[in-house]
Amino acid sequence: MKDYYTYEYYLMNSNNYESQLLHAPGREYSSIPVSKSYASHPNDIIFEICNEKLISSVRSTRETTEKKMELRNVFRILHTSYLLEKEDNDFHSYNPSAGGLYPIEFYVFLLNIDNVKSAIYHYHREKGILSYIREIDLDFIPETNKFVTKSNFFIVMTGKVDNILFKYGSRGYRYLLIEAGHIGQNLKIVSDYLNIKNRAIGGFYEKKLVDILQLPKTEIPLYLYCFMDIE
Ligand SMILES: Cc1cc2nc3c(=O)[nH]c(=O)nc-3n(C[C@H](O)[C@H](O)[C@H](O)COP(=O)(O)O)c2cc1C
Repeated sequence: MKDYYTYEYYLMNSNNYESQLLHAPGREYSSIPVSKSYASHPNDIIFEICNEKLISSVRSTRETTEKKMELRNVFRILHTSYLLEKEDNDFHSYNPSAGGLYPIEFYVFLLNIDNVKSAIYHYHREKGILSYIREIDLDFIPETNKFVTKSNFFIVMTGKVDNILFKYGSRGYRYLLIEAGHIGQNLKIVSDYLNIKNRAIGGFYEKKLVDILQLPKTEIPLYLYCFMDIE
């Protein structure tokens, strides 16, 4: 009971709501990040700046696109980021998962994909198929993130609380957030590799999204990633 109370309490206090701009305005901030630093010490380790680029560093984008994306690229991104491949009694995955419980679900909003019906689908991570759920409804995207509605597609990650709290108690809530981050990074690395622009999105109205996806109380929206084929 206490475990459920903890996550519900956190959710209640971190929800986005429509009148937020009036009641909880964002703060001014500098967009040039600065690392935490300590006073120098003789034991500090100083190494020449490493020029080896093991992965490319690509900025994310808020650009919109009219160009249609090939369905093949949607599946390349989905499969390489979050597919559970079962083999005999074992399985392989592209992300670590606390206790191997895989509590994250994908809802895929296909908006502008070549020869494909625009709709909301659920991604089956073992079979690798998209199951039709319903027509597109974008009411949960706030004005500040409206560019998302002009992407080719986006993924909403949700977390199944029941799937993880039974093992880890309240701490399972923390693990849900960490896992969503792991998968998000996979999504970014794969789409950068395919030259498909992308952006992580944390700002949306979760209550509206819960209604649109008809999620049970124990499945919570966590994170969104959008993808744009731009040329
Ligand atoms: C948890 C999280 C939430 C984010 N939410 C939003 C968002 O709601 N809207 C947006 O435009 N960008 C969002 N971003 C993207 C960041 O603003 C962006 O990654 C950051 O400015 C660094 O820029 P870069 O990705 O181009 O390196 C989010 C990123 C993270 C990790």
